[in-house]
Amino acid sequence: MTSTNPVNPVYNPLIDQNDYLSWRKDKLANTPDYRDADPADLFVDIENASDPTPEELGQILAACDKTNMALYRLATHSPIADKKTIIALAQKTGLKQLDKNLCADEDSLTSITRTSHQGQHNYIPYSNKRLSWHTDGYYNTPEHQVRGMLLHCATPAKSGGESLLMDHEIAYILLRDENPRYIEALMQADAMTIPANVLDGTVIRKAQSGPVFSFNHKGQLHMRYSARKRNIEWKQDAHTLEAVAFLDELWEQAAKGRSPYVLKYTLQAGEGLICNNILHCRTAFEDFDEPSKKRLLYRGRYYDRVNEFQE
Ligand SMILES: [Fe+2]
Repeated sequence: MTSTNPVNPVYNPLIDQNDYLSWRKDKLANTPDYRDADPADLFVDIENASDPTPEELGQILAACDKTNMALYRLATHSPIADKKTIIALAQKTGLKQLDKNLCADEDSLTSITRTSHQGQHNYIPYSNKRLSWHTDGYYNTPEHQVRGMLLHCATPAKSGGESLLMDHEIAYILLRDENPRYIEALMQADAMTIPANVLDGTVIRKAQSGPVFSFNHKGQLHMRYSARKRNIEWKQDAHTLEAVAFLDELWEQAAKGRSPYVLKYTLQAGEGLICNNILHCRTAFEDFDEPSKKRLLYRGRYYDRVNEFQE
């Protein structure tokens, strides 16, 4: 089966090749070669997280505008106090509507740590295993797409737990440069299907079909994706499968440190990521023996993009 009529009748500001080339040029000019970059240069230092200055917030918004991600570092932090402070900080960047997922804490900022709680035992994020490339909430319904994401480190692991990050717009460019048909395939409304989530015989999430790439009404690119084979049923057409294989190869190169577009960094205590739900993965990690030193990250998934309220 081939994708003879693959383009959805949806808004697509990049359908014209000249428009695409212009957008592409700007995007690549704004994206550093992360292999050469000093992570220290990528961080926005925040003196007082409870009351960030306009300059500090402006730096976060500017970084997200260019690369869909910003790294921040709090001058002072404590794991207990951080959670509410981080929610408030995220709000000031435009991340306001938290997605309530199955494992969220009561205030909806999820604690990512090794756990064996009921309902979480099947999820790699709550283990110390490698977590493969994905965007967050790729299984969410169309009405509840996760467009913004926050990751904050309260306690790093003893070793490992490195994050690999890639702007999803760069993935779009690499795919389109390789073969424009890959983009058409991944914009099909049935490109990917996430099987139902069944726990102890009960369906807790219905199967979800949707595109990998889509645009919102402002022409901003959104991506739903997981590299985990068991998480996705890909449409069985040639271009979809080739595009998926192309991404798999990209991740292999990234793991070897060969992609200029992949930022590799291990978040330390008080450091975090604010982003427009970019592609990311995590290496395996080892915890300290003391329970109080277990790796702990807070994650927020949002229906908003960064700075959306001002766009
Ligand atoms: Fe994630």
